[in-house]
Amino acid sequence: MKKYKRFTVVGTVGLLIGGLVVYYWAANPATEISPVSPEAVADASIERGQYLYYAAGCQNCHTQPKGGKLLAGGRRLKTPFGEFVTPNITPDLEFGIGAWRDEDFIRALRYGVSPRGEHYFPVFPYTSYSAMSDRDMLDLKAYLFSLPAVARANQAHAVSPPFGWRFAVAFWKMLFFDPGPFQATSAQNAQWNRGAYLVRALGHCGECHTPRNVLGAMDNSRELSGTKNGPEGGKIPNLTPDRETGLGKWLGGDVVTVLEMGMLPDGDFVGSVMTEVVDNATSHLSDEDRKAIEVYLGSRPHIKSDWRDKK
Ligand code: HEC
Ligand code: HEC
Repeated sequence: MKKYKRFTVVGTVGLLIGGLVVYYWAANPATEISPVSPEAVADASIERGQYLYYAAGCQNCHTQPKGGKLLAGGRRLKTPFGEFVTPNITPDLEFGIGAWRDEDFIRALRYGVSPRGEHYFPVFPYTSYSAMSDRDMLDLKAYLFSLPAVARANQAHAVSPPFGWRFAVAFWKMLFFDPGPFQATSAQNAQWNRGAYLVRALGHCGECHTPRNVLGAMDNSRELSGTKNGPEGGKIPNLTPDRETGLGKWLGGDVVTVLEMGMLPDGDFVGSVMTEVVDNATSHLSDEDRKAIEVYLGSRPHIKSDWRDKK
C-alpha cells in the first residue's frame, strides 16, 4: 500500500512536470522576434550608444566592484531567491558576447532570451530594457563592441530550485512580463514622454524603487513608491510626489540636483547603491534629460509609504 502511494506521488509529480514542459513549449512566446530594420543597422552610432549606456547603467551590475575589469562580469547580486553572478558582456569572442548578431542582442534585451533560446532570469532588468527602441539597442551594442574585450569566464549562479530553473522563467514571464518598445502617449508633451522613457526603459528606476511581490515581480499598483527590502537589503525611498513620504517639494528642481551630483536638499548625499546610479548613470545625462525625469516623476500618482520616516 505504502509502495503504491509513493508511486502515485511520483506519478503525479511526473505528470505535473511533464504537463508544465509541454505547456511551456506550446506557449513559449519569446521566440518570435521583430526583424531589425536595415536603416537602424546602417546608422548604429557609437557616440549615441555611449550616452545610452550611461542612461541604462549597464556598468553597475556587469563590473565587479573594486578593481573588476569593465563589463567583464562577476558581480554578485543577492536576492531573496539566491545569489546571481553577472556575466561578461565585453566583445570577447569566447567569454563575452563578441559573436552575437544584432538580432541576438535585441532578443536578449527585448524578450530576455539568449541566443540559444534560454530564458534569462529577471534579475537582468530586461523587464525594463524591453521598452527600449530597436535603434537605441543597436546603438548601445555598437558602443559595447567598441570597448576592450576581456577574456574572463562566466560563473554559475548560486540559486536553488525552483528559482534556479530557467524553464520556470517562461511561466514567470507569462504572468508578469509585458515585452515591447515604449509607446509615447500623445496626451503628454515630448518632455514628459522623454522622462517616461528614461525612467521606465533606460534608467530602470522601478527595478529598485518599486516594491516586489512574492515571486519577485514589480508590483505596478505601487509603482515607484519605494520598499523596505531593496537590493542589498536596504531601504529604497518613495519617488512618487507624495508630500510626506515621497519626493513632495523636492520636485521643484531638487531631484535634478540629486541625479546630477547625488546631493539631497539638506546637504547630505545619497548613499548605498544610489551612489553608483548617480556616478555611473544619471550624472552623465544632459540637464534636459534630468529635468525630463523630474517632470515625469512629478506627474505620477501620489502613493504613501507606511514605513518611511516623514520628511
Ligand atoms: C541589475 C543588474 C543588471 C543590470 C543593470 C544589467 N544587467 Fe545584464 N545581466 C544581469 C544578470 C544577472 C544577467 C544574467 C541573467 C541570467 O543568467 O539569466 C545579465 C545578462 C545579460 C546579458 C546576457 C549575457 C550572456 O552571456 O548571455 C546581456 C547581453 C546583458 N546582460 C546586457 C546588459 C546591458 C546591455 C545592460 C545595460 C543596458 C545590462 N545588461 C544591465 C544583470 C544586469
Ligand atoms: C540599483 C538600485 C537603484 C536604482 C536603479 C535607482 N535607484 Fe534611486 N535610490 C536607490 C537607493 C538605495 C536610494 C537611497 C539612497 C540612500 O539611502 O541614501 C535611492 C535614492 C534616490 C533618490 C533620493 C530620494 C530620497 O527621498 O532620498 C532619488 C531622487 C532617486 N533615488 C531617483 C532615482 C531615479 C530617477 C532612478 C532612475 C534613473 C533611480 N533612482 C534608480 C536605489 C536605486
